[in-house]
Amino acid sequence: MSAIQKGAVAIVTGAAGGIGLGLATEAVRRGMRVVISDIREDKLRQAQESLTAMGGEVLAMRADVTSEADVENLAKAAVDRFGQVNMLFNNAGAFVGGLAWETSAAQMDWIVELNFKSVAHGIRAFVPRMIAQGDPCHVVTIASGAGIAVYPGYATYSPTKHAALALTEALYIDLVAEKVGNIGVTIAMPGMIRTEIMEPEKASPSALDLDREARHENATVKRVEQLMTGNLEKAMPPEELARIVFDAAEAGELYILPNHDSDAMKARCQAIGTGRATGVNPYPAIMGQSRLSGAKEDAPIGAPPGQLDKGAGSAAKATEQMEQAQQ
Ligand SMILES: NC(=O)c1ccc[n+]([C@@H]2O[C@H](COP(=O)([O-])OP(=O)(O)OC[C@H]3O[C@@H](n4cnc5c(N)ncnc54)[C@H](O)[C@@H]3O)[C@@H](O)[C@H]2O)c1
Repeated sequence: MSAIQKGAVAIVTGAAGGIGLGLATEAVRRGMRVVISDIREDKLRQAQESLTAMGGEVLAMRADVTSEADVENLAKAAVDRFGQVNMLFNNAGAFVGGLAWETSAAQMDWIVELNFKSVAHGIRAFVPRMIAQGDPCHVVTIASGAGIAVYPGYATYSPTKHAALALTEALYIDLVAEKVGNIGVTIAMPGMIRTEIMEPEKASPSALDLDREARHENATVKRVEQLMTGNLEKAMPPEELARIVFDAAEAGELYILPNHDSDAMKARCQAIGTGRATGVNPYPAIMGQSRLSGAKEDAPIGAPPGQLDKGAGSAAKATEQMEQAQQ
């Protein structure tokens, strides 16, 4: 039986807007009671009002997912209010562009805490309660296509999404090994979704100088962020993603790749995965074709001769197709 039932309780982190609000809205649409949390309290109140207006039973609570204590308090508050927890959406997260050697330790700490350790806090706070309940429950991690691929300027985002993905896989196999049968696990690896993801300043600690202009002094970071921002307008709406995620959870699927499942994306990810497993470097071919490699924006796009024969030709072709699709 699925955790998605009328009256069951869904908890969504980072629910003041974007994908989180889309997930909370879908939960209400499916008759679930919801607990929404975020650090942006004004937006969270607005979200609560809109969900309540839909007829939803909603608890809204400020919780910073980088704080283990806040996440534990969120679980306690959910149980105090509704008596149970059935679905946890580890959703809160942020993207900030940056090169591997230019990203400050403070910025890396922030993204590691927000995109990765938050998932660990969520699992620790909610899974033992779900095990004790014994009724149908589900944990969803909103990872990213960047959890299986690495792009230029993704020095914080890709590693943290890889880690969030692996931790959620660890949860899945530990539940299987321990014969815990009442908790399903789903990992979403979306491509671009139309949200405020490209405005990290809205939720970053004030101590961090994440000024967009300063970041854009680097041509690669500027180009990557501009490409991504340009793609947002035609990206998948969060409501559509939410429906896909709920359907996948209901069907018991472990992995879903919404908007990241074109042949080109798949070939690129397969080339990276195969490279890791077999010791073949896929990146010369990928980067040889990539607009994202534009540190020198006018550099001709094309893999150096010979690189395509080294087992990564499909990745180069895939990258070309992907970039044509993004235009
Ligand atoms: N938009 C995309 O293209 C995309 C693609 C793949 C994955 N994702 C992932 O989806 C998730 C949601 O992102 P989004 O696109 O909706 O972005 P968004 O910026 O619109 O929403 C993120 C929400 O998280 C909240 N938040 C930030 N720091 C927080 C903290 N410390 N504690 C609690 N809440 C916090 C923000 O206030 C915001 O409401 C993220 O994990 C992101 O990495 C997004």
